[in-house]
Amino acid sequence: MKSLSLVAIILALAGSQAAKLVEPPSDIPSPLNAIDNIIVDVLESCKLRMVEGWPQYGIPPLAPFEIQHKNFNFGTGELHATGALDSLVVQGLNEFEIRTMSVNLILSRIKFELHFASLNLTTQYEADVEAGYHMARGGGAFLALEDLNMSGQIKYSTGVVGSNNNLRIKGIELNIVAGNVVSNIENLSKYRILNRKLNEIVAEFISLTINENTDFVADWVDSTVTPICNDLIGDRSLKDILDLIGGGSE
Ligand SMILES: *[C@@H]1O[C@H](CO)[C@@H](O)[C@H](O)[C@H]1NC(C)=O
Ligand SMILES: *[C@@H]1O[C@H](CO)[C@@H](O)[C@H](O)[C@H]1NC(C)=O
Ligand SMILES: *[C@@H]1O[C@H](CO)[C@@H](O)[C@H](O)[C@H]1NC(C)=O
Repeated sequence: MKSLSLVAIILALAGSQAAKLVEPPSDIPSPLNAIDNIIVDVLESCKLRMVEGWPQYGIPPLAPFEIQHKNFNFGTGELHATGALDSLVVQGLNEFEIRTMSVNLILSRIKFELHFASLNLTTQYEADVEAGYHMARGGGAFLALEDLNMSGQIKYSTGVVGSNNNLRIKGIELNIVAGNVVSNIENLSKYRILNRKLNEIVAEFISLTINENTDFVADWVDSTVTPICNDLIGDRSLKDILDLIGGGSE
């Protein structure tokens, strides 16, 4: 049943190139809501699939997403930090609410708004920090982005009717706003009060990085993620993509 509707969307999307100049009469019920609902369905099944991942494409489980061990080496100006993260777990990647999903066939554009109550990371860390002085620290860490609002739009093209319906992403606009950032890193200092202060600084830094650099993030996503998406899409049609993320549908 669903595949039939998918075929309908692809035809509609492909046809939209031709329909660009034609405004639909406003009193006829549009198929748009149906298409919005199908994309919502695909995202919902994507959330479920995130628990297992997509092993056939080398994508591990994403909910939770776990990394056993990762070394890091980070340097900027005077500051240099090397170390390792162990037993890292990211939770909440599949716990989002779809607040808006609306496809505009005439403009070849999908607007979306997703809300994450809490996207969080738990890990053990060990760090060697050089910043004029030397400091070696380790312990547990918890970081969370709460009340996270991701909104934006994706512009696409579907090629010409009668071709193989190649999907191309033309641009991605993404706004990210984190309502609250939690940082709870143990043992940054052996003094409890100083540790709390340092965590406040980390939380403030993350919050500013996300909330005040929206243009930077948006440009980065558009220039980096757009070509990656198109690479991944390759010669696939929109139906292939929807089947792939939704884990096939019948
Ligand atoms: C981490 O995120 C998950 C998923 O959103 C949530 O269920 C859990 O309560 C969060 N953990 C903490 C400590 O906030
Ligand atoms: C804090 O870090 C120091 C230096 O790595 C380490 O010796 C100590 O065991 C750590 N304390 C905790 C509670 O992890
Ligand atoms: C989410 O962010 C977008 C863009 O910044 C904004 O238009 C929208 O109102 C926000 N939603 C909520 C629930 O705050």
